[in-house]
Amino acid sequence: VRKVRTHHLREMKERGEKITMLTAYDMYTAATFDEAGIDMLLVGDSASNNVLGNDTSLPITVDELIPMTRAVAMSAKRAMVVADLPFGSYQASPEQGYLTAVRFMKEARAHCVKLEGGAEMAPVITKLTQGGIPVVAHIGFTPQSEHTLGGYRVQGRGETADRIKADARALQEAGAFAVVMEMVPADVAGEISRELTIPTIGIGAGNQCDGQVLVWQDAFGLRTGRMAKFVKQYADVHQALLDGAKAYADDVKGGSFPGPEHSF
Ligand code: KIV
Ligand code: NA
Repeated sequence: VRKVRTHHLREMKERGEKITMLTAYDMYTAATFDEAGIDMLLVGDSASNNVLGNDTSLPITVDELIPMTRAVAMSAKRAMVVADLPFGSYQASPEQGYLTAVRFMKEARAHCVKLEGGAEMAPVITKLTQGGIPVVAHIGFTPQSEHTLGGYRVQGRGETADRIKADARALQEAGAFAVVMEMVPADVAGEISRELTIPTIGIGAGNQCDGQVLVWQDAFGLRTGRMAKFVKQYADVHQALLDGAKAYADDVKGGSFPGPEHSF
């Protein structure tokens, strides 16, 4: 199979074919989403609050995210594997960002990295791209900055729309090959998508972006409870696992498993 490359994504934008992205943090989800033809697999720092038990994305470390990224990279045949750079691993300087990104490329075999932030991140993106590391930018609501942004809020409403548009332009100019837009008004995200030559990937950013991303535990219902407005649930993995676990427990307690056919 032909691997998804940055130029394929740009060609998809040019011919109006939407780009699909899902998060993945381990081998079987990665292999399954890859088999489904998902174009990009994001090993998100959302693993912090979807795999590791934290309540935000802030605590996850590079050392925690690298083995997950490697598992995904080794399991995907076609999809582009995007490694999220964790909070604090790239904001100090372009050099810090470069050294962190190199770890994801060498130790985890990621194909590119993603980092959060607006125009202020341009020097980091330039450093990485010049050093051979493709970069996905991430603007709008950026979860690593939830404490400065004042919680989960739509970004780019009203007069702040101009700032987010300027950010998008600056990140493209700096060398990003794609940009994730999170919780941005649909019309603003649409304008940015039409203006930029690089693909935009939306989450809570309406349907005029060039692609879409969701966290898989949200999209397929492993996580239960209150869900963001931008989530659509396509499966009920929680229910399937719950039913399976209960049936297994019933069989073991009742003595019907293992049966003779499972025994030596
Ligand atoms: O970590 C993540 O899952 C993300 C997506 C929501 C874009 O950054
Ligand atoms: Na993330």
